[in-house]
Amino acid sequence: MFEKLRSNIVDKTARVGVIGLGYVGLPLIHAFIRAGFRTMGFDVDQRKVDKLRAGQSYIGHIPSELIAGWVAEGKFEPTADASRMSEPDVLIICVPTPLSESRDPDLSYIESTARQIAATLRPGQLVVLESTTYPGTTRDVVLPILATRGLRLGEDFFLAYSPEREDPGNPNFAASNIPKVVGGMDAASAELACALYSQAVVKVVPVSTCEVAEACKILENTYRAVNIALVNELKMLCDRMGMDVWEVINAAKTKPFGFQAFYPGPGLGGHCIPIDPFYLSWVARKHGMSTRFIELAGEINTSMPKYVIDRLTVALNDQKKPVRGSKICVLGVAYKKDVDDPRESPSFELMELLAARGASLSYSDPHVPKLPAMRGHDVPALTSEQLTPEFLADLDCALIVTDHSAFDYDAIVRHAPLIVDTRNATAAVVAGREKIVKA
Ligand SMILES: NC(=O)c1ccc[n+]([C@@H]2O[C@H](COP(=O)([O-])OP(=O)(O)OC[C@H]3O[C@@H](n4cnc5c(N)ncnc54)[C@H](O)[C@@H]3O)[C@@H](O)[C@H]2O)c1
Repeated sequence: MFEKLRSNIVDKTARVGVIGLGYVGLPLIHAFIRAGFRTMGFDVDQRKVDKLRAGQSYIGHIPSELIAGWVAEGKFEPTADASRMSEPDVLIICVPTPLSESRDPDLSYIESTARQIAATLRPGQLVVLESTTYPGTTRDVVLPILATRGLRLGEDFFLAYSPEREDPGNPNFAASNIPKVVGGMDAASAELACALYSQAVVKVVPVSTCEVAEACKILENTYRAVNIALVNELKMLCDRMGMDVWEVINAAKTKPFGFQAFYPGPGLGGHCIPIDPFYLSWVARKHGMSTRFIELAGEINTSMPKYVIDRLTVALNDQKKPVRGSKICVLGVAYKKDVDDPRESPSFELMELLAARGASLSYSDPHVPKLPAMRGHDVPALTSEQLTPEFLADLDCALIVTDHSAFDYDAIVRHAPLIVDTRNATAAVVAGREKIVKA
């Protein structure tokens, strides 16, 4: 089994199946098609599958024409039929790993996917988990489910973990030019998974176990969460001391070694950084340890929306206006610059806080035309506003939450009476700076 699968991977006749066709899965399909593999895509969301079959994209940086081309040329077959998971030689799992209501890991998507794979697992298949999760998941959660099939690991089927490092909105990096860390459940699985990825990505970094590969991803994201918390705290101190934290950071980053710049913001967003560190703190608790850095970073980062609202309230007050009844437009609801993904965006909490104080709310985001329903948030049914001079002039405050490149910051500052900027997006604006409050 091993030799046959390895030679199929090496000569690219192996068929690659990706399970979960979201922000991670679809770019991965792209990388394997570029490398010359035929692919299948599985998703439980029939609407996504129908769109893909019709050659339509739902992810900003993957154009529809590309998908239409793959489908027409038979390089990509999207399906919602899990019983076909026996067809590909390789199955890569890219399903969500959210937190539960009590902020514990929710592995239900991984578990149900593993059960679907187990139902049709056949000799000669390699399964790779890519979803971000705590160290031990591949061994303790996925392997026992796959083993129910009665096949032998390392002889009949193979299992590995390789974390995704997608950076949405970054034009310099796609799945194919980001080095990939790979850990196998045994030597044979590791060798096959390394052979597979080395066909499609610039560099493969083998590590000794799945746990090391799982921990590597969590370390990368925790490192970001902790450093963002540090600069968020520094921002609050700088505000009190009358300094601009962005000027401090820009000065510090001229040091050619030993300093990596992180920037403050209105709170964390996205599927990874606000969530993944809690996977690590959960597994630490199971090992009788508390991860104090992570807890503290979480505390600071989650307090940022309230801090922004305090700054905004004071700025309106200085203009003799209460928040209640003030027209406030939130600029940017995607969680980061130039992407269309609003998941976990701090904009939603900011809007809730403003609504609770009686503000008259609107929003503008060129990448999010309609405000989507968000788990855990009570958001109004709004559509994105055009930032015309009249619209801006009629506001009491423009609150910049996401620094999209598409916004015309000169025009925003020229026409809006007050601008609360959480991203230093208006740094290059010269005229009207007295109307800008950084928060
Ligand atoms: N978005 C990122 O930038 C990013 C970066 C690195 C890692 N990750 C990690 O990758 C994983 C996936 O994230 P994403 O952003 O692609 O999520 P996503 O929500 O965009 O996509 C996940 C897809 O999986 C589908 N799905 C759920 N259960 C399924 C099942 N049983 N069978 C088939 N399909 C199923 C969903 O319908 C959805 O389309 C997560 O663990 C995340 O933490 C995400």
